Amino acid sequence: MSEYVVEAKNITKTFPTGRGEIPVPVLRGISLQVTAGEFVAIVGPSGSGKSTLLYCLSGLETVSSGEVFILEQPLSRLSRPAQATIRRDHIGFIFQSYNLIRSLSARDNVALPARLARRRVGAKAVDEALEQVSLSDRASYKPAMLSGGQQQRVAIARVLAMRPDVVFADEPTGALDTHAGGQVLDLLAGIARAGGSVVMVTHDLQAAARADRVVVLRDGATHRTLLRPRVEDVFAALAQDQPAGA
Ligand SMILES: Nc1ncnc2c1ncn2[C@@H]1O[C@H](COP(=O)(O)OP(=O)(O)O)[C@@H](O)[C@H]1O
Ligand SMILES: [Mg+2]
Repeated sequence: MSEYVVEAKNITKTFPTGRGEIPVPVLRGISLQVTAGEFVAIVGPSGSGKSTLLYCLSGLETVSSGEVFILEQPLSRLSRPAQATIRRDHIGFIFQSYNLIRSLSARDNVALPARLARRRVGAKAVDEALEQVSLSDRASYKPAMLSGGQQQRVAIARVLAMRPDVVFADEPTGALDTHAGGQVLDLLAGIARAGGSVVMVTHDLQAAARADRVVVLRDGATHRTLLRPRVEDVFAALAQDQPAGA
């Protein structure tokens, strides 16, 4: 068993540009380790590279240099099918926009990834996942009949049913009010407490303060790392990104 569930070693990312344009690196040498049971938040100003980092860590985006390891497997050295297998068996995703299938009930949305992956996730696991997010009574509802917070909890149940080792979340509370966002954060913290790893990008400082560790990005590099910070600590670390007097 690997010491780290996710490990990034000095990763950089530069997107291709049009002819004559000078490519600007979006990630400039980031190293990060995430252990089992750890809840890590990534914060930083808009455009600092948070989403790009999350996509590189999860293999949805390739790195330009450096390496990302998921359970000791170096992603850039794996074939595309092998990368897809790692994502399917070990990784869960939660997006700001929920990404549910509109025509399917909550239950069928939760069951879908397992069905696509031909994984043996029985009806019982699906029901348990819905129970964990307190939506057993809404299992037959389609997304349009659910609130934003309920839809995000369906997306979390969809991840829980697959029992991933690591959950990546990009602004999971970004479209939710404080109460619904709090429920989503409770569930993410619960995943970590149960031994999973959670890596969450957020611009919500209250959300970040729920994490065990907060990584503050600035211009594609790690600016600060805070352990179990209070909201004020995260705020102060981000404020240091602003020019003096701003
Ligand atoms: N697919 C892409 N192609 C080109 N540039 C991109 C792409 N994705 C992101 N970028 C650029 O990378 C920078 C960081 O973006 P992003 O990671 O989305 O930041 P954040 O999530 O912190 O707001 C931005 O300047 C953005 O324009
Ligand atoms: Mg983003």
